[in-house]
Amino acid sequence: MPKIRTAYLDNSATTRVDENAAKVMKEAMLNNYGNPSSMHLFGEGAKDLLENARQAIAAQINANAHDIIFTSGGTEANNLAIRGVLANSKKKRIVTSAFEHPSVLNLCKELEKEGYSLTLVKPDREGIISAEKVRNAITPDTALVSIMHANNEIGTIQPVEEIAKACKEKGALFHTDAVQSFKKLPIDVKASGIDLMSFSSHKIHGPKGAGALYVRHGLSLHPLVYGGHQERNIRPGTENIPGIAGFAKAAEKKIDTGRMQKLRDYFISRVLKEIPDTMLNGSKQKRLCNNANISFKYIEGEGLLLYLSMKGIAVSTGSACSSSELEPSHVLLAIGLKHEEAHGSLRFTLSRDTTKQELDYTVKELKDIVKTLRKMSPLKGGNRNSVSGLSSLKGGK
Ligand SMILES: Cc1ncc(COP(=O)(O)O)c(C=O)c1O
Repeated sequence: MPKIRTAYLDNSATTRVDENAAKVMKEAMLNNYGNPSSMHLFGEGAKDLLENARQAIAAQINANAHDIIFTSGGTEANNLAIRGVLANSKKKRIVTSAFEHPSVLNLCKELEKEGYSLTLVKPDREGIISAEKVRNAITPDTALVSIMHANNEIGTIQPVEEIAKACKEKGALFHTDAVQSFKKLPIDVKASGIDLMSFSSHKIHGPKGAGALYVRHGLSLHPLVYGGHQERNIRPGTENIPGIAGFAKAAEKKIDTGRMQKLRDYFISRVLKEIPDTMLNGSKQKRLCNNANISFKYIEGEGLLLYLSMKGIAVSTGSACSSSELEPSHVLLAIGLKHEEAHGSLRFTLSRDTTKQELDYTVKELKDIVKTLRKMSPLKGGNRNSVSGLSSLKGGK
């Protein structure tokens, strides 16, 4: 059977595990399988793996190893940071942005039900949250500000150093979700004065089910769950040693972000030039090296995604299939896109493994599919029932 041609452009959803990370994981599972809390030699071996991994993650962000708490991923790290701070504070307000990841936004909505006050700061049209707006939102009863380092849908980069400064001046703690920016932007937690920072392994070619929270020295956090004394009593439960070892191995690898950025710019300029009625969402300059989020006028992103998938091309939309209706992306609406613009957008995200051939193939297929879908689009006066164009797309062209 011929191997189908593919292009994986959904690296902000997840990445392929690094070969060396997979090797250390296998070694941990088969040969270094002790419980790091055990006092015998098997336990010591696992404890060494755990502490070396802590050191490796800390080294990436200029933290002390002691300040890294391992979690099951970014979602748990975000929940632990926010609930952990609030449970230890008398203050009752949290300030966050309108385009955070659901692991922050949905938690904040839940906290509102529990009696906390919530302030949502809006990003501008470029997808940037100004430090000034955050400063103005901080009140004396604000316990915590949580603003992501880079947005997961549009890749825009937030001025976290300035925001950290504003928080310090106004007496609030600052958490940032660095799940998408880790290994793509330089991070120095000591220089930036950030109090808490979340990470996820599977976005950087590590395995799923591992992540970390940086907790500034001296800051005490309430645990989310109760159990043993692991992770300084902040995150009880036997540590996921293979996952953590794989995470650290992946984090140690040097990434050529310049190459990724060049390929991304090549892709964006080809799409915008060769496909009419397209628009890049979010700042072109203040944007992660691997993100291209593009609106295709007159069509639904979901339809486009499915037709690309039939061609072996993986991308994503910001829409959440949470109900019978497809809700447009909260991120795109937050930066001021109209509903139909938000509906017709796709996120293409590259990794260190992405090739120019994959991008060329994607542009070629995109051009055909967009043309066909627009012919049928009621938004463009086309005939929704016409399927003549569709049948040609299904063939192995
Ligand atoms: C910005 C951001 N935060 C948090 C998460 C959640 O990370 P995890 O999948 O490790 O729970 C993601 C994953 O999509 C993300 O993009």
